[in-house]
Amino acid sequence: MSRASRAINIDDLRTLAKARLPRMVFDYIDGGAEDEITLRRSVDRYADYELQWNSLVDISKIDTSTKVMGNPNPLPFFISPTAASRLFWPKEGELAVARAAQKAGIAYSASTLASRTLEDISATAPGVPKFIQIYVWKDRGIVKEFLARAKAAGFTGCILTVDTAVAGYRERDPRNGFSIPPKVNSKTATQALARPGYLWDIVSGPKIGPVNFRNPGGGKGAGDVMGTINNLFDRTMTWKDAEWMANEWGGAFAVKGIATKEDAIRATEHGATAVWLSNHGGRQIDTSVPVVDLVPEVRDAVDSHIEVIADGGVRRGSHVLKLIARGATSVAIGRAYLYGLAAGGEAGVARAIQILKDDVERGLSLLGVPKLSDLDDTLVRLRR
Ligand code: FNR
Ligand code: LAC
Repeated sequence: MSRASRAINIDDLRTLAKARLPRMVFDYIDGGAEDEITLRRSVDRYADYELQWNSLVDISKIDTSTKVMGNPNPLPFFISPTAASRLFWPKEGELAVARAAQKAGIAYSASTLASRTLEDISATAPGVPKFIQIYVWKDRGIVKEFLARAKAAGFTGCILTVDTAVAGYRERDPRNGFSIPPKVNSKTATQALARPGYLWDIVSGPKIGPVNFRNPGGGKGAGDVMGTINNLFDRTMTWKDAEWMANEWGGAFAVKGIATKEDAIRATEHGATAVWLSNHGGRQIDTSVPVVDLVPEVRDAVDSHIEVIADGGVRRGSHVLKLIARGATSVAIGRAYLYGLAAGGEAGVARAIQILKDDVERGLSLLGVPKLSDLDDTLVRLRR
């Protein structure tokens, strides 16, 4: 059994990830923007929501199921899109994550900036719902082609990320000399040489970058992840363009990175079937509001058939349950599975999912709420 498989909690996986990765790569996962206040508060805020429970309820059967983008999901959480998984597990990258998701039966989301092709991801995990994440692009031709490819590869949901008009200022990255793909200089070489196993995996495999484009971005920064974001993102885009994308996709469509109830309503008026509350894991604008605070007002603002997805700072099953109790339909996880991926590939992601699954089942048992769909905010109150 690998060390990752023996991790007791998500923080153990984080410790293992830190030991395996060069500092710059670990910090790219672990870090956030500016003073990292959003990052810290997104995790800490869950502790301010305190729990009560129902006693002496029959908990012999626990039902943790919900739906995600119209698909049944056996657990209340699923895989959030994150860039360039081969950076964290160089041989397999996204394939390791998608396989672990498939074994657990939970939905998988591929980032625009995935380091494996949509077709390969789909072929390795054909039996689980898969969603494709896109940004608001300048070039409608690229969008059309990308969406058609995703559909042909069996992706059934589309996620439009709207909180990344420009890349946030993640200060650990320039301090470490980090870029994707990593560039060799004295700073980065020292960090890489301290992790020879990882370094070997990197140099013995193909170059890591966004492989789902013929010519990512073009011009300055082409081929590197932040450059791709800054190049492809159209700063003149508005809700009309989001609506065009929703129509072009013509299926389950989430707008990810919503921070106000007004935008949640706007999203649904422009074709979204799901509103996704997120601050991008504290990687974009700093000092933004923790998502757990926002869920009820957004849930109340949109029609009941609209899914409310929430993410940010989830490291425990109780965090998932608090988001659900406050009105989220489902919860997306980011770093929780990335630490697992870096700690041990597919086995590490599987361990992260199992830890959260056990937490969620135990949590519902202790709350005296055997059915997730019966969980509401009557058992959660803000600490005084
Ligand atoms: C992300 N996230 C992200 N989101 C997105 O829409 N497209 C992307 O390519 C990425 N890339 C990415 C890389 C890394 C390393 C991280 C940590 C995050 C954001 C992600 O989907 C999610 O919103 C947050 O990660 C949620 O916060 P937690 O769970 O990481 O605290
Ligand atoms: C990030 C971008 C790629 O958060 O979304 O790193």
